[in-house]
Amino acid sequence: MKTKDLQNNSIDIAEAAALIQAGEVVAFPTETVYGLGADATNDEAVQAVFTAKGRPADNPLIMTVGDASQLSAYVEVSHQARQLMNTFWPGSLTIILPIKENAVSMLVTGGLQTAAVRMPDNQATRAMIRQAGTPIVGPSANLSGKPSPTTAAHVHHDMDGKIAAVLDDGPTQVGLESTVIDLTAAEPTILRTGAVSQKMLTVVLGKQVIDGTSQKSLAADETPKAPGMKYRHYAPDKPVIVFDPLDFNDLKESLQEGDAIMASEELLADLSKTIPSWSLGADLASASENLFAGLRYFDDQGEVNKIYAQAMPDIDLGKAYNNRLGKASGGQRFTL
Ligand code: TXA
Ligand code: MG
Repeated sequence: MKTKDLQNNSIDIAEAAALIQAGEVVAFPTETVYGLGADATNDEAVQAVFTAKGRPADNPLIMTVGDASQLSAYVEVSHQARQLMNTFWPGSLTIILPIKENAVSMLVTGGLQTAAVRMPDNQATRAMIRQAGTPIVGPSANLSGKPSPTTAAHVHHDMDGKIAAVLDDGPTQVGLESTVIDLTAAEPTILRTGAVSQKMLTVVLGKQVIDGTSQKSLAADETPKAPGMKYRHYAPDKPVIVFDPLDFNDLKESLQEGDAIMASEELLADLSKTIPSWSLGADLASASENLFAGLRYFDDQGEVNKIYAQAMPDIDLGKAYNNRLGKASGGQRFTL
């Protein structure tokens, strides 16, 4: 089975929706990264998503909806949840809520009594979900452990022949996965950083939101709150080393054959053109947008065997960027 390329037009959206209804897996665009869609109420279809990704069964999936009214049959939507949805949806926030009894498949929740729900900021995808008439599961469309895909070409790279189709709506805008907030904990708790920051959430809820991502890392046999965060993630095959922009001059002097650099336009302006490089653009937003694409690009360059990537200031979106880069590097940093 060759994976079909569908474009963002009404005929192709209808075909994507029909494939979802038929129990097939279709990759879809969002503003964060591409996802792998399948009917969340069809266990065989959900199982096919785990198989295509090579994802462990204890890592639950996000239920992705076209509009918030699709949710009431499945989860308990509290006042706090409604406040967040009104402010941030459609957009880069995933909310963990209690499920209604027996309303969501154990395959989707990984056996938990909670489910993650999200409404992405992409018109084509929301139209597809509404036409399919069912929520879809929506993990990132990469092979488990690899950087998330930010273009349809990345999806083809990982999923060709494994899924029915990709709905192509060009490159994604945010480039990092959504923020995950748990509203089932005693206090609202961030389980994964993303474009919606702790500060933004705290303002809307009018109470302190806990950053649950800064806790010590978990041992393999511990159960983390967001099961997905225990796995090595976002990593290309080649080693990634994080550098502080203040160390750039020292780094330049220590570069060797086969080293590649991912850095801001400003830093790259000073770098010899013979060194393989990937621009992270002018600011934090462009760095986030281009991070995963750069990691994937160098993974496919035969002459590159090590990737140096620039750290960003550790606030707001910078926290999400540094978190993904930290996981890609396995904690390796450039030091003198
Ligand atoms: O931006 C995104 O969220 C993308 C796009 C495609 O929507 N999707 C995405 O899905 O990143 P995924 O499956 O790669 O990441 C979802 C994260 C995982 O870390 C998972 O463990 C966690 O959410 N999660 C899902 N259900 C959960 C639950 N009931 N309780 C706690 N964590 C949950
Ligand atoms: Mg993922």
